[in-house]
Amino acid sequence: MKKRDVVELRVESYAFEGKGVARVPTEDGNQFVVFVHGAYPGDLVRAEIRRKRKRHAEAATLEILEPSPLRREPRCPHFGACGGCKQQNLDYEAQLRFKRKQVADSFQRIGGVENAVAPPTIPSENRYYYRNKMEFSFARRRWLSPEEIRSGEDIDDRFALGLHAPKVFDKVVDLDTCFLQSETSAEIVNFTRSHFAERGATIYSTKTHDGRLRHLTIRESEADGERLVALTTNGEDDGLLLPYADELKARFPSVASLVQHIHTGKAQIAIGERERTIFGEGHIHDNIGDRRFRISAASFFQTNTRQAETLYRTALEFAEPTGDEIFYDLYCGAGTISIFFADRVKAGYGFEVVESATKDARANAALNGVENLAFFEANLYKSFLPVVAEHGLPSPDLLLLDPPRGGMHPTTIADVVSLAPPKIVYVSCNPATQARDVKELTGAGYRLEKLQPVDMFPHTWHIENVARLTRE
Ligand SMILES: C[S@@+](CC[C@H](N)C(=O)[O-])C[C@H]1O[C@@H](n2cnc3c(N)ncnc32)[C@H](O)[C@@H]1O
Repeated sequence: MKKRDVVELRVESYAFEGKGVARVPTEDGNQFVVFVHGAYPGDLVRAEIRRKRKRHAEAATLEILEPSPLRREPRCPHFGACGGCKQQNLDYEAQLRFKRKQVADSFQRIGGVENAVAPPTIPSENRYYYRNKMEFSFARRRWLSPEEIRSGEDIDDRFALGLHAPKVFDKVVDLDTCFLQSETSAEIVNFTRSHFAERGATIYSTKTHDGRLRHLTIRESEADGERLVALTTNGEDDGLLLPYADELKARFPSVASLVQHIHTGKAQIAIGERERTIFGEGHIHDNIGDRRFRISAASFFQTNTRQAETLYRTALEFAEPTGDEIFYDLYCGAGTISIFFADRVKAGYGFEVVESATKDARANAALNGVENLAFFEANLYKSFLPVVAEHGLPSPDLLLLDPPRGGMHPTTIADVVSLAPPKIVYVSCNPATQARDVKELTGAGYRLEKLQPVDMFPHTWHIENVARLTRE
């Protein structure tokens, strides 16, 4: 088997990032593993080998010869081209089973926990329209489907606003429908695209680094029905922005605020060097359970609001606080978990790197009438013990971790070990890095007690998982 070979493969199981796994017998009686993109367990596919390594290969599905019984008809017309929800064609119960297995596999293989088991994944209450935040990209060219290219017609593919096609960075799928956020969100996308296209606005190019428009982010409040729109631009340009602001406000009264992120750097990120509020307060409010939260454009907020309550309840059940604990909330964002835990602990301290998020956290504590919490700006890529010492904070009895996908920095793990909290609850959106970090903690005197996957991201391979560790 070599690169570019086209082979027939029966997919047997499911691997990290939603790839199918096929095993091909070798001449020496062993098995060669092929990771098949775009295939599910039970599929028989014709696939092309795209990359060959010593022990395994990666292949791309060219044709499904026999579909897996787990396949379902996708609901979205952009399915296949759009990278938004790649598993809409997979049975939801199977998605949950695969997520559970991924968690157990990660803890066995990466975490070194023999016989690690995960209970069934808690399903998401909403399977469509579950996201409260979507980030769309402008692109000078829209992605054309193979059918459009084959048609030979002269198609106008200029000026696109949508989501990136998988692994395509300079073109986007020009979305007119999306089942992830609300219908109004799709209407705002369509309005924004036509408004700027009609006025001949320029789009930032990742190749030449010129052009104005970069990203459009829409946040929605389920509780209030309000929206926060953020436009990321290369430079300020009031001539472009202010007429857009007027029309946006007039057409969509639910848009409570418009923010501009000015970003001149090359990295394709929606948050820039500077933020300007064009109208409104620069934030909206939403509820998780019976708590209310202020959310600014740059602050992290769980994207599946309904399921965030389930996630936080799971974390609280794992924490089992008695009311006497000193609680540390690392990577606390806008303070949501601390506020959720506040009436079950003696005092809580949150640590977070984003300034606007720590400000939101303080405002959120006040909004909920909570007085036993304090929040500190701290970069958890460096030791945060100086912050603990500077403020004379008591040692934690209970510590919560909720880092970004990359997991924790070794310095922070060392800090946690030296603080020696008797109980740690680790919430993660990446079981691979979570298992890696847990291995460090179990090597330093902690015992992994239980796991609980929670589905925050239906129709994607993304997994959220909660782990509890206690000090031996
Ligand atoms: C997965 S979010 C969790 C937020 C919060 N626990 C919640 O549920 O809303 C991770 C948070 O880590 C923060 N973060 C990222 N890198 C960080 C760092 N180096 N130091 C401190 N916080 C960081 C992000 O800004 C974000 O708020």
